[in-house]
Amino acid sequence: MCGIIGVVQRRGEVASFLHQALKRLEYRGYDSVGVTTISNGQLHMKKDKGRIEEVHKKLNLDEIPGCIGIGHTRWATHGIPSMYNAHPHFDCKNEIAVVHNGVIDNFLELRKELKSKGHEFSSDTDTEVIPHMIEDYVSEGLTLDNAVTEVTRRIEGTYAIVAMTSRDDGKIVCTRDGNPLVIGRREGATYVSSDIPAFLPMTNDMILLLDGEVATLTAGGAEIRKLSDGSEVERETIKVSWTADQAQKGGFPHFMLKEIHEQPEAVRNTLRIRPEVIQEAAKFIHEARNVYFLAMGTSGHAAMAGRHMFASLAGVLPIFELASDFPDTVYNSLSKDDLVIAITQSGETTDTIMAVKHAKSFGVKVVAITNVIGSSITRMADHSIFTQAGPEIGVAATKTFMVQLTALAQLALALGELTGFVDNEMLEKKRQSLEKLPEIVSEVISRNEEKARRLAGLLYDKPSLLFLGRGVSQATAEEGALKLKEISYNHAEAYSAGQSKHGPIALVHDEYPVIFVVPRDETRWRIVGNIMEMKARGASIISVIAKDDEELKGFSNHWFTIPEGIEPEFSTIPYVIPLQLFSYYMARRKGFDPDKPRNLAKSVTVL
Ligand code: AGP
Ligand code: GLU
Repeated sequence: MCGIIGVVQRRGEVASFLHQALKRLEYRGYDSVGVTTISNGQLHMKKDKGRIEEVHKKLNLDEIPGCIGIGHTRWATHGIPSMYNAHPHFDCKNEIAVVHNGVIDNFLELRKELKSKGHEFSSDTDTEVIPHMIEDYVSEGLTLDNAVTEVTRRIEGTYAIVAMTSRDDGKIVCTRDGNPLVIGRREGATYVSSDIPAFLPMTNDMILLLDGEVATLTAGGAEIRKLSDGSEVERETIKVSWTADQAQKGGFPHFMLKEIHEQPEAVRNTLRIRPEVIQEAAKFIHEARNVYFLAMGTSGHAAMAGRHMFASLAGVLPIFELASDFPDTVYNSLSKDDLVIAITQSGETTDTIMAVKHAKSFGVKVVAITNVIGSSITRMADHSIFTQAGPEIGVAATKTFMVQLTALAQLALALGELTGFVDNEMLEKKRQSLEKLPEIVSEVISRNEEKARRLAGLLYDKPSLLFLGRGVSQATAEEGALKLKEISYNHAEAYSAGQSKHGPIALVHDEYPVIFVVPRDETRWRIVGNIMEMKARGASIISVIAKDDEELKGFSNHWFTIPEGIEPEFSTIPYVIPLQLFSYYMARRKGFDPDKPRNLAKSVTVL
């Protein structure tokens, strides 16, 4: 994980830019923070354990001299969160500084080798072997970029690396394999970062750096070469449509709440994806033998809901597998006639990338659904659908879930048209229902926010909650439970309501909160039976129901209501929103920061 930033500019101090950019990257990790600059031929460094603002209060990150610098926010993999394990890491002479995102698998053997040559280590990280190796290559006479190239030949694992040396205060060298890095460009300054929002206030001009490439950045531009043969790479500049404002809180106390409120807009923009892009993906699905959905976490819940949409509208039932388990589940059963649909908002989740690599080794075709242009998944895919949520900073996914569901709904309709599974009149009805989504999403938020806040006040100290749904609503329940446990740390579990009586019901006793997701679809009457079973055991029933479902109000202790007008296949989109708001207010009530839950990071780039 980790957030990396680097900047080299012709004039002016970089300190406060680095500080602010790291804040925009903090969602990637917040165990420690560190910056290093070069001034008067010397490295200057500030780093410590803790969140950026805590460290800033202690060390004043805005005061460190130089017009070139690198910075890092860490999500520890090797070595505890501490000052000495915080990046940047240095060589023995304090001339080379390195920040790294990823894991160096063979660091133990490299460390042993370096120690035997007399190198002294000051951290427990895998990262620290890198500056020491660069030191050796530079002392043999290699330039920094050639030294970094040589290092990549020796290290195994995944990495994004940014390095600089006090011997050359006009240059930053970076390389990647398996972890993200993008380059930003404007007159007189060049940036490198793990993610686009870090440099958005400065520029919208982005240059991709691909795995297996090394770039030398100066204030005048970026020179990219292939690691394999040193040949130069010509890469065009891409204009990013995201704005700097999208990466600010805009008056909301947290990104998560802002992003929940941005959902109507995100859905509206995603409904505007060019129909040809969706149709092309539908063609891939139509021609495939087996269709697999691969995803993790919230994206996996989008896949679960997507299965129902595909089955009911197109008569196609994709196989959903957790990407992390996919290679161990399918073994060699794949063929080149199969298709993988990889759903990943970041496009960088290692579990998903590795599963796609496994599939590709059998010649399987790949369609990606992602929110990030230029992300790793898009370079592996035969075809990509870009959802239009804008940058999502809160660690808990909200608006990106919404747009994944919206894109899947459009895809199900396009596929339905190809397979002819339902008639055109029906498809048209479903299409019109999708058009109403932005308005309905907006109404659901305003209708339920205060209720969610109040309910959090009543339930915040409940040690455990159960989330139940049937059919497509099981995906909604799963997402509700995930949101709650990841940001409020209450134990929450989701089950198919049908399964609940086969075991989980034993947990239920007086006042035990059970949350039911009950849209008006064909599962409703069976869910009513499950509600009665839970009520009979003393459970406190919280339901998410249609606006005028008086009968269910009568069975519930508390309820959230959803306006009518959305077809049952798409019900996850409005029905999950009260659950997002509920978990947000639960976290707030308990005094936790919903944007930065403990132990988590936005994009999980380890296996
Ligand atoms: C969501 O709230 C989580 N933070 C997490 O489960 C996330 O959905 C998962 O890591 C997948 O991320 P991706 O969509 O970027 O691949
Ligand atoms: N492995 C490095 C460390 O533990 C980088 C961690 C990361 O990228 O998440 O410091």
